[in-house]
Amino acid sequence: MAATVVSLLLLTSSLWMAEQPPPALKDAFKGSFLIGAALNPGEFTERNVRDAALVKGQFDSISPENVLKWQSVHPAPDRYDFDLSDQYVAFGEKNHMFVVGHTLVWHQQTPKWVFEDAKGNPVDRETLLKRMQEHIQTVVGRYKGRVNSWDVVNEALNEDGTLRQTPWMKILGEEYLVKAFEFAHEADPKADLQYNDYSLENEAKRNGAIHLIKTLRAQGVPVTGVGLQGHYGMEWPSVDQVDAAISAFAKLGVKVMITELDVDVLPSAMQYHAADISANLELRPKLNPYANGLPDSVQQTLARRYADLFGVFLKHRGELTRVTFWGVTDASSWLNNWPVRGRTNYPLLFDREGRPKPAFDAVIKAASEASAGK
Ligand code: XIL
Repeated sequence: MAATVVSLLLLTSSLWMAEQPPPALKDAFKGSFLIGAALNPGEFTERNVRDAALVKGQFDSISPENVLKWQSVHPAPDRYDFDLSDQYVAFGEKNHMFVVGHTLVWHQQTPKWVFEDAKGNPVDRETLLKRMQEHIQTVVGRYKGRVNSWDVVNEALNEDGTLRQTPWMKILGEEYLVKAFEFAHEADPKADLQYNDYSLENEAKRNGAIHLIKTLRAQGVPVTGVGLQGHYGMEWPSVDQVDAAISAFAKLGVKVMITELDVDVLPSAMQYHAADISANLELRPKLNPYANGLPDSVQQTLARRYADLFGVFLKHRGELTRVTFWGVTDASSWLNNWPVRGRTNYPLLFDREGRPKPAFDAVIKAASEASAGK
């Protein structure tokens, strides 16, 4: 009898535990920084009911994965398409979220016509500046007071810290950065305006970015923040590199944020880039080792990796204003298709069924330990 009662009690309590919804990231980090996710149309139109609910429950900031990029919003010289971006912004407003705009000036996902004349030759300086101004005025102006923060220039730097020779740079020179921020500021004087890039944890690139931000700010250019994209691996960058990068940018007096966080658990494909196609067929399974599930040991390593990263982020609460994940669940991550198409990756905190992973628990634990130590 007693045994039955005990087992009944155990059963009820485990049922009760199973029914407890997971804690919310946005609550765990309240007072430290905003917690965001990049959304695709299924999520912000709520066609994907499950993941839309997850977003509303967990995050207080959103970024548009693709719908505000030039090629999406302004596909032809005389045509803007705001259908999806309007729905994205409305979703954020309806749910009282911090709404990010991404991105205004980039060399990727920008149509070729932007840089070319009718004959396909590079446009002159004046034409390109006018196109940039018109684009920024139209897009930022449309969402004035509604998009809180814009990634104004994306990925302007090479790995050695010099400025990348993009069409923007080739036609306009360094001034393109100045102008992009000035046009954005004119269109919405209250919006946060950031420079956003990846691998800023590497010293040479970090120093290039510091030089760039200092030079711009010394000229009075309205750069208010730096976004570290945060496309990380299991080992790179070290927590010390992340720590040093956040400290270095915070010292410049700008807001620092992690804008596109994910942790790639798959073997690096880069070393196989030079392989010929026949070798590639053989190597392909090697590049996709967890197609049938993530081994528990790797799952635990990922959880520890996330705990370490959030340990550094929490150390910098007050300097870091936001940590945004580049996606919601592992199923929707771009890392399933980049740099190799069709892999099975596990870079985020929610699994393919939208369930919290051990990495989620580790991040929540890091937050509660930090608030206990406050
Ligand atoms: C990626 C998107 O996630 C993909 O869907 C798209 O095909 C390519 O771009 N750095 C950025 C993001 O600033 O805009 C990129 O997003 C990922 C790398």
